[in-house]
Amino acid sequence: MKRFALIGAGFIGTLHARNLFRHPEVDFALVADVDPARAQALASQYGARAISVEKVFASDVDAVLIASSTPTHADYVERAARAGQAIYCEKPIDLDTRRAKRAVAAVREAGVAMMIGFNRRFDASHAALKDVVARGELGRVELVQMSCRSQDAPPLSYIEVSGGQMRDQTIHFFDLLCWLTEDVPVEVHVFGEALVDPRIGEAGDVDTSIATLRMASGALVQIDSTRRTRYGYDERVEVFGAQGMAESRRQPHRHLSVYKGREQVSDGLHADWLERIEPTFAAALDAFVAGLHGKDVDYPGAEAALRAQRIADAATRSLQTRAPVAIDVD
Ligand SMILES: NC(=O)c1ccc[n+]([C@@H]2O[C@H](COP(=O)([O-])OP(=O)(O)OC[C@H]3O[C@@H](n4cnc5c(N)ncnc54)[C@H](O)[C@@H]3O)[C@@H](O)[C@H]2O)c1
Repeated sequence: MKRFALIGAGFIGTLHARNLFRHPEVDFALVADVDPARAQALASQYGARAISVEKVFASDVDAVLIASSTPTHADYVERAARAGQAIYCEKPIDLDTRRAKRAVAAVREAGVAMMIGFNRRFDASHAALKDVVARGELGRVELVQMSCRSQDAPPLSYIEVSGGQMRDQTIHFFDLLCWLTEDVPVEVHVFGEALVDPRIGEAGDVDTSIATLRMASGALVQIDSTRRTRYGYDERVEVFGAQGMAESRRQPHRHLSVYKGREQVSDGLHADWLERIEPTFAAALDAFVAGLHGKDVDYPGAEAALRAQRIADAATRSLQTRAPVAIDVD
């Protein structure tokens, strides 16, 4: 049994709270939030105790799950590391990669376990695709195509502090790309526009983009991202190799087809991203807890967090300069 504290009782913290409560090897002990009433409401739902953030780092928990607002993550990561507590941190560690690096240095120094919330890796179809690639069934990887299409643009207030489409949305796919191919991109060129909402453009961001990347192996990649579809949440990943192609397909919300006369009507996609990827949050927690129990598990750690940020930073520079940008792979 591992004792956990949850920091952040907002949207994603509420989802994590349910998974912590349901996990058979987790003692969901503490909830903290800058808003004590929020912490209290969530804690009492699951028999946990509401506590101030300060006290979390002086408590006896084995691990903290950091799901508070992004600007708080780096500081809390450092404090948990200094307290010897294992860390599951929602992405990103910090929008500023230099600040994120300092937090990761504290984690390394303390030698505590750390996982970053790149939960898409835990999607069953994406994981099966990775196995096919890793077994060499497709031969040398030559092309990767990914679609990352959210159903609705978030509010402008969110866009303004998000770090931009590359750092906020496409970053999950930069991580998936490196993990799937066991390779790293060395160059990126992004074309982007505000086609969904001109106010997103006025805020200095884009809502529609195509990122093309060249991997160290020479493989070529294209990731399209949009903030709005008119048909639900659309995510797909295709890997094309010298010996074949494999695809983690876009997924319907059910698998019903109705056939009448010369027509076939099949179910459409999930209504939103959460409906599509919600199971991956529980699977990610499973992996983290298994790691805490000494099992040999593969999950995205501090290195993966920094790597994806470096790619997202380069992609953002490419958008700003309208030119290809080399990626520092150090
Ligand atoms: N992995 C994913 O797919 C995914 C999805 C959504 C959000 N996120 C990440 O999760 C984080 C939270 O997002 P959200 O949508 O739940 O936001 P939210 O605004 O709903 O919740 C944030 C919570 O943090 C609390 N908070 C703010 N400042 C604090 C502080 N100093 N100390 C303690 N608590 C504080 C707020 O009171 C609020 O309850 C963000 O970093 C976001 O990037 C990840």
